Amino acid sequence: MDHLLSIKDLSQEQLKELLSLAKKIKANPAEYRHALDGKSVVMLFEKPSLRTRVSFDIGINKLGGHCLYLDQQNGALGKREPVSDFAANISCWADAIVARTFLHSTIETLAEHGSVPVINALSDLYHPCQGLADFLTLSEQFDDVSQVKLAYVGDGNNVTHSLMYGAAILGATMTVLCPLGHFPDGQVVVEAQALAAKYGGKLILTSDVEQLTEQDAIYTDTWISMGDDTDLSEIKAKFQPYQVNKTMMKQAGANYFMHCLPAYREVEVTAEVVDGEGSLILQQAENRMHAQNAVLVTLLGQ
Ligand code: CP
Ligand code: NVA
Repeated sequence: MDHLLSIKDLSQEQLKELLSLAKKIKANPAEYRHALDGKSVVMLFEKPSLRTRVSFDIGINKLGGHCLYLDQQNGALGKREPVSDFAANISCWADAIVARTFLHSTIETLAEHGSVPVINALSDLYHPCQGLADFLTLSEQFDDVSQVKLAYVGDGNNVTHSLMYGAAILGATMTVLCPLGHFPDGQVVVEAQALAAKYGGKLILTSDVEQLTEQDAIYTDTWISMGDDTDLSEIKAKFQPYQVNKTMMKQAGANYFMHCLPAYREVEVTAEVVDGEGSLILQQAENRMHAQNAVLVTLLGQ
């Protein structure tokens, strides 16, 4: 493993190893206190963040490393100098780059032209750190993740893509329920289906809310992602049947609710569900740090 650009690049063994390492670090942080001694990580963010920024900063600190946060105050990435030069220069000082960018191609450029590991902290296409934390969360609830039935409801987006790859590689069953015109990226669907076939997973895509039965967990995300300038009023009526509420949870028979956050109450999910019993949102948020620390230890640890 040289970088973490997308979950699709991981084998089942690598993915399981990361989840198992994350559990070890979570259970026994003192053992990893010096894992990143002397290492510096640059965190480059083109978009806002609470969970990702804070969990990386504090997580790196807990592993004995140091991190430097770069936002866009000194000018937009790629404006003053090409992203390729930026990557090469940062590699002179830092041991890794964590990047949240608008375009996934920017993260690929960083990985191509830098000489240190690059970790995708969210792009328009993927959110692998979120996916890892979510499967860590599921593996804490279910002994065998390959038996889990996970449904993602709403806008097919970067989070959906990473969950699809993760579920496929772990051999789980995932249903993706989206309004017509808002399905995940076609290429990602093809790749995830191929991974599901390889690892014994099952991926179902549908627009029919009635099909949402016999699920273990329902996951949703914002209907409008960062960088998407759609007005909520334009899509609200179309998305309304896909709101996760008590009725949907009951119909699906799902005990657990998941969301990467930030959540918009009474939009994609009702407050009753997101703040209710069975909501795993804070466990997911906490696990961001443990999952990312497993990635950092794997890429940089000594
Ligand atoms: N879930 C997540 O990535 O949150 P932030 O955008 O706050 O980092
Ligand atoms: N799909 C959302 C995830 C935020 C963590 C976005 O890209 O804005």
